[in-house]
Amino acid sequence: MAVNGLAQVVADEVDTSTPETVSIIFPDPTTADDENLVSRLTAIVNAVYFDAEKGIFTPEYQRTSDREVKAFIQSRKLAVAYLCPSNEPIGCVFIKKLTPERGEFGMLAVDPAHHGSGFGRLLVSFAEEYCRSEGCTVMQLELLVPTHCTNASKEKMQAWYKRLGYEYVKLGDFNRDYPDLAPLLAGPAEYRVFDKPLA
Ligand SMILES: CC(C)(COP(=O)(O)OP(=O)(O)OC[C@H]1O[C@@H](n2cnc3c(N)ncnc32)[C@H](O)[C@@H]1OP(=O)(O)O)[C@@H](O)C(=O)NCCC(=O)NCCS
Repeated sequence: MAVNGLAQVVADEVDTSTPETVSIIFPDPTTADDENLVSRLTAIVNAVYFDAEKGIFTPEYQRTSDREVKAFIQSRKLAVAYLCPSNEPIGCVFIKKLTPERGEFGMLAVDPAHHGSGFGRLLVSFAEEYCRSEGCTVMQLELLVPTHCTNASKEKMQAWYKRLGYEYVKLGDFNRDYPDLAPLLAGPAEYRVFDKPLA
């Protein structure tokens, strides 16, 4: 609408939305008894990994379970992203120290409703910052890439990790790290290990 030749701002066209923010923490170990939290995180992880790892595993594949998520919360190895101010859990990342110098993260997942908001990057930064504060000088991650088919999601992840500063260093041993999941592989896959200096 124009008044006196000037564009007039129409109230219902004004975008009043504010960017979403998250708070990332290791929930208190007693939170592991919160069945709603545990099942919500399990559901997020399994849903996003089912999509991201389509074709890599047989259909019965589930990335995690309530039991595993509960154990990770109890041992303070699972950082959770809570949406502010609602406190709704919308993502998580598993973090552990492999050695005093080497940290590792995995099971990185964000609810698809919030993809592209920068929360994945924040979860990675949280994992790196935590390991740095614990004295680690290197951060490690692994990426399972099928060699019998192309997987767009894994290609995208690999490019993203590169942008975050991770470099491919070697092939890992998936059977050793995931003895329960290895039999569910649908075909050959490379288990690639990536490093990033934290100093
Ligand atoms: C990986 C994952 C956690 C990222 O979550 P996210 O909230 O989308 O993360 P971000 O918003 O920080 O985006 C990550 C990158 O993807 C890009 N991206 C996100 N959504 C996108 C979209 N719809 N189109 C194009 N690029 C997109 C972003 O630009 C960003 O790159 P940048 O940091 O260089 O800008 C999420 O995609 C996920 O849950 N994936 C499934 C599980 C998985 O693959 N885990 C890792 C296994 S190794």
